[in-house]
Amino acid sequence: MKLKMMYSFLNSDIEKIEEALEETVHANSIILRESSLHLLQAGGKRIRPIFVLLAGQFGNYDIHKIKKAAISLELIHMASLVHDDVIDDSDLRRGQPTIKAKWDNKVAMYTGDYIFARSIEIMSEINKPEAHRVLANTIVELCIGEIQQIEDKYRFDQNIKDYFRRIKRKTALLISASSLVGAIVSDVEEEYQQKLNKFGYYVGMSYQIIDDVLDFVGTEKELGKPAGGDLLQGNITLPVLFAMEKEEVRKQVMTVHEDMGKKELTEVIASIKNTDAIDRSLHISDMYLNKALHTIRDLPNGKAKSALINIAKYLGKRKF
Ligand code: FPP
Ligand code: MG
Repeated sequence: MKLKMMYSFLNSDIEKIEEALEETVHANSIILRESSLHLLQAGGKRIRPIFVLLAGQFGNYDIHKIKKAAISLELIHMASLVHDDVIDDSDLRRGQPTIKAKWDNKVAMYTGDYIFARSIEIMSEINKPEAHRVLANTIVELCIGEIQQIEDKYRFDQNIKDYFRRIKRKTALLISASSLVGAIVSDVEEEYQQKLNKFGYYVGMSYQIIDDVLDFVGTEKELGKPAGGDLLQGNITLPVLFAMEKEEVRKQVMTVHEDMGKKELTEVIASIKNTDAIDRSLHISDMYLNKALHTIRDLPNGKAKSALINIAKYLGKRKF
């Protein structure tokens, strides 16, 4: 089943959000307008808005209200990617030139700030202090996670705990915040709010592990960016940590540096793929996925719950 089919009962609401996203980033400045639109039109799975809406379905769902939270969550995500592409010096995202590549780093930094500010602006129309607190805290953690990632670059002595701490901050918390904010805005009962929050967290962990596996097993065409990029940048992900348990692979991985040639990098990647590291990583991703499904087992049955289950399974098995 295609992702879109999994929440087809919300399609008209998602369309409204898609239109509103464009309106929200509209700017008088030509550069800001074009760079923001370029970013929006590059697409994306819109996972965070979907989670906001689906969580909201367990309470008093009002599209006019919840739409604002959904837009805000997607814009925070987008702003973080624009900044991330500057930090990672990435020229391609989703097969399209990044803002820093099409314009430059300065334009990208301000476009990110601008989109981020728009996100706060639209969120300010929601009168729920708790939702604001959750979002602010998530962004604080996101920034800490990014700094941690910089500190941990090419640190070959890090452990699996360091990795989990990092992916929690860089990915899982924004997905869990999406479900929690959706639940808060719709006045979902407290017990369910916590379950939806946890569900988002587990799905986020599973999702990021898959992302890190795909960086090794995906092709450039599937990934929309060169494969093996994480390792080349010194980002030590779960497959690398597992593969490094083998002494000879460990030695090889430790030779990786920023300017390593494609041929040598391909050899290191092949050695990592030759171990059980990919299977073991996928197994951990599956464990998180199962935890996610277990967490929402007591939520009322219906379209929203089925959609959450199907989306979680889809994200846990995705190929790109
Ligand atoms: C992608 O990581 C990046 C993130 C998940 C978060 C980046 C967060 C910030 C730059 C700080 C927050 C800033 C604002 C304005 C809210 P990746 O490089 O591992 O993944 P990729 O392959 O998709 O680039
Ligand atoms: Mg990046």
